[in-house]
Amino acid sequence: MATLAPQPEHAVDPLDMSRPELYRDDTWHEPFRELRARAPLYYTENSAFGPFWSVSTYKPIVHIESLPELFSSEAGGITVADLQDGDIKMPMFIAMDRPKHTGQRRTVAPAFTPSEMVRMTDNIRMRTAEILDALPVGKPFDWVDEVSIELTTQMLAILFDFPWEDRRKLTYWSDWAGDIEIAKDPVRKIERQKILFECAAYFGNLWQGKIGKEPSPDLISMMIHSDAMSHMDQMEFLGNLILLIVGGNDTTRNSMSAYAWALNQFPKERAKLEADPGLITNATQEIIRWQTPLSHMRRTATQDTEVEGMRIREGDKLALWYVSANRDESVFPDADSLRIERENARRHLAFGHGIHRCVGARLAELQIGILMEEMAKRRLRVNTLAEPERIAACFVHGYRKMPVELSRY
Ligand code: HEM
Repeated sequence: MATLAPQPEHAVDPLDMSRPELYRDDTWHEPFRELRARAPLYYTENSAFGPFWSVSTYKPIVHIESLPELFSSEAGGITVADLQDGDIKMPMFIAMDRPKHTGQRRTVAPAFTPSEMVRMTDNIRMRTAEILDALPVGKPFDWVDEVSIELTTQMLAILFDFPWEDRRKLTYWSDWAGDIEIAKDPVRKIERQKILFECAAYFGNLWQGKIGKEPSPDLISMMIHSDAMSHMDQMEFLGNLILLIVGGNDTTRNSMSAYAWALNQFPKERAKLEADPGLITNATQEIIRWQTPLSHMRRTATQDTEVEGMRIREGDKLALWYVSANRDESVFPDADSLRIERENARRHLAFGHGIHRCVGARLAELQIGILMEEMAKRRLRVNTLAEPERIAACFVHGYRKMPVELSRY
């Protein structure tokens, strides 16, 4: 396998895929193409987050995620940004290894079973319909704020039984919690701590209000009444709540925005979908593949090993670039194109793989599917009016603003 020449110290490595501008400017495509072709495992010596391996193709990501004892989620966290001294530590089960991970995941998993999805469907459909019916047709508005954020925030409020009028706080906390660029900025780090404590205090009150009450089907009650989670300390409780808020918020939001953007980029695919709403289920998978709302997850090697002929040392960190693996031509032919009838769209890695595979995947699919169905029922089309404003970060991958106008077909 060919490898790439190492960069001189302190030079900007053009293949350092952790640089936020690559995602803000949507210029990650070419360097990842080069990495996939020439160095599926590539070592970046100097980055703002320190040295790390970039894993950019499908097969080694599946391999690494299938060996959670060898590639830990706990040893160094789940993003290329390391936790630093002075950071508040909020243990969450996405950043735990077995056996602790297993017990805590089991606690929230019942909130996402197929029967729970059936139970939530009518509510989500009703909320989606209300939002769509209030939108102007033929007048510009921001799709991210009025549809993607509003819908995901409402869904989380339902899931947590969160006070309805305060639901935008969930968006606010989630945006602060999920922004790993803050690791580079001491002033904003302090501000983030303040905001997360405010979030902790708010949820602490909700938690108190449910103690001693009959179990209810919301996540806070489920956590209170479970063995694995009921003995958590406050930081662990907060960490797991934030995990669910960020996990459910930024990600689903960005695939809803991607639905609007992708169909505008591929009008022939849009025409197919408008002609046959039966394609919605597969289109949901394909949009999630094409967009990939979290660019990467990180693992840390627990011992010396080898992947794809490269020597990995104990303690090395590996960024698993889902955003690139989902464009791996050996798995997804014509990967850069949205093809809503793609036979293997479901094989995408946007939800990860293995023991940490997204626990909320069904809920995300349900919400995005319902959005498309309700748009189809109303024969509504989203027309994007300009290039969207994108998030400058290598973790949450998505859109800040997307000016659009609705029309009927
Ligand atoms: C884990 C993506 C929606 C909650 C993950 C992982 C990814 C991911 C990549 C880590 C997988 C790994 O390490 O192998 C997404 C995407 C979504 C989405 C792309 C939407 C399109 C949701 C929703 C929720 C959620 C709606 C809940 C409300 C979680 C949780 C975990 C997780 C709790 C940790 C699972 C574990 O460690 O066992 N998600 N997610 N996610 N996600 Fe999601």
